[in-house]
Amino acid sequence: MCGIVGYIGYEQAGPFLLDGLQTLEYRGYDSAGVCLNDGSELIVKKAKGKLKVLKDMTHDGEDLRGTVGIGHTRWATHGEPSDVNAHPHLSESGRFAVVHNGIIENYQLLKDYLTSKGVEFRSKTDTEVIAQLLEYYYKGSLVDAVIKALEKLDGSYALGVISQENPDEIIAVRKESPLIIGLGENENFLASDVTAILARTRTIYRLENNEIAILGRESVRIINTDKEEIHKEQETVDWDVNAAKKGGYEHFMFKEIMEQPKAITDTIAPRIKNGRVVLDEVSLSAEELKNFNKINILACGSAYHVGVVAKYIFEKMLRIPVEVDLASEFRYRDPIVNDKTLTVVISQSGETADTKEAMKEAQRRGSHVISIVNVVGSAIAVESDDVIYTWAGPEIAVATTKAYSTQLAVIYLMALYFGEMLGTIVPDEYKALVKELEELPDKINAVLENKERIQYLASKLFNSKDVFFIGRNIDYALSLEGSLKLKEISYIHSEAYAAGELKHGTISLIEEGTPVIALATHEELIGKIVSNIEEVKTRGAQVMCIACDNHKELEGVGEMIFIPKVCDMLLPSLAVIPLQLFAYYVASLKGCDIDQPRNLAKSVTVE
Ligand code: F6R
Repeated sequence: MCGIVGYIGYEQAGPFLLDGLQTLEYRGYDSAGVCLNDGSELIVKKAKGKLKVLKDMTHDGEDLRGTVGIGHTRWATHGEPSDVNAHPHLSESGRFAVVHNGIIENYQLLKDYLTSKGVEFRSKTDTEVIAQLLEYYYKGSLVDAVIKALEKLDGSYALGVISQENPDEIIAVRKESPLIIGLGENENFLASDVTAILARTRTIYRLENNEIAILGRESVRIINTDKEEIHKEQETVDWDVNAAKKGGYEHFMFKEIMEQPKAITDTIAPRIKNGRVVLDEVSLSAEELKNFNKINILACGSAYHVGVVAKYIFEKMLRIPVEVDLASEFRYRDPIVNDKTLTVVISQSGETADTKEAMKEAQRRGSHVISIVNVVGSAIAVESDDVIYTWAGPEIAVATTKAYSTQLAVIYLMALYFGEMLGTIVPDEYKALVKELEELPDKINAVLENKERIQYLASKLFNSKDVFFIGRNIDYALSLEGSLKLKEISYIHSEAYAAGELKHGTISLIEEGTPVIALATHEELIGKIVSNIEEVKTRGAQVMCIACDNHKELEGVGEMIFIPKVCDMLLPSLAVIPLQLFAYYVASLKGCDIDQPRNLAKSVTVE
């Protein structure tokens, strides 16, 4: 949610700021802006709409003057997307500029107070109060003014601040929203995410809550709110700089779909040693594991859908009851969680606000938390008791694909690892499952090779108004993801239903020509799902059916997509590929903005 960049050095800041914002555009794209200190005053350029508008307005930043500046790409919370509500925000006199990611919860109170003191506000944002507070408290030291302002703020923030009087510094501070500092040669950077600075430096500081960074051209100091120096370890980022580029593909989403075999290999290979799954990251002993009487899975969106798949897998393989909760619901439902509950938190970004807060709630109640996270060093990764990273690399498309698939891969690893510890999987089955898991990336490649068939089916259905996804057991869990993928990027209304539940109401929506995508991969329930398919066909549905290639007799129940047969546990990893491709091709045929669907942003750092 919102991307922040900053530059201070001896070069013109404009081109870096615009390039940096480009890589952060996935975080928000309803407006963008920059502010530079040109040596005498602060110059702001901002525009509603995609970053392209600002890029065109400033000739990719070449028109901007100044060697210190901050930039922002926005996902609106307070105040509609508009030029005036775009960041950076200036104080009344124009001497202080702020970019902000997060939400200032008490902004109205602060605004009322400042208004009573005669301060005039221009925007409807919560952020503008920060700029106004800086001016209100400024007595010659920018750092002091920032510290004073922070004392008044409730909520979450990552901030970049510059001022007219201080052309040689940027102040950066964060609380509950991510911010990193990039360390260069005679130049330093500020960004919400490392992808923005990878082309310039790989050496970073990851700011912790309430740490204040003072960036100069040749040095960076970090202090706390009592102005005591903090000595921080530098980190080296080893992400491939090309990983965050499109690499010849038209969309990041397609590139990321195609990267899935590699991402899964990277995630599983280091954790399978001599035919055994080894999760060194998990600190639990067999004794401790046996002490849990429930597994509690917390996540949002697609990560939640991974959790639903995990429920079927864990319950079957570990024989422990599993509850899967939407993090936003868990937080406020007084959950029954204690030290006998093992909590698994799933998040690509590691910074989703609801997931993070739900995790803390579980920890407060005594639960041990294992997180499954993609972004190294993110809040959830750092604050959980154990973290198992998905090695998917940067995921830029807003609609997740490779993160979803690598999260599933970690679930398989956990099922095998815990199953062995608990003795709930017999050795022969264990051996066979590990072997199949190692072969999974090749099988995914085989499904990807069939993409033209899915493109053809997408061309038949892309004009639909409503699409239904049905399945049973693990196929139902997967249908949730198929439906979300389609609706979020193609804007076609879709619903996922447990196939057996359809006749309890929803089947009334099926009429002549309604597309129904049926998942029929789960071996034990093929007969049942075929009956459900017949029920919808009788009522006029056009059926597209995904099944394993050992069930060729299903040919004829609808337009078929066959995937290689694998054991039930691994089926979702293959069956999700046609669903992702289907959503992608439909959105492409409809001319949608695939990587940046309307109203969305990649990291949801607000409640
Ligand atoms: C959908 C999608 C979202 C995320 C959700 C959680 O394609 O990407 O539903 O899965 O916002 O995000 P993370 O995994 O970053 O916590």
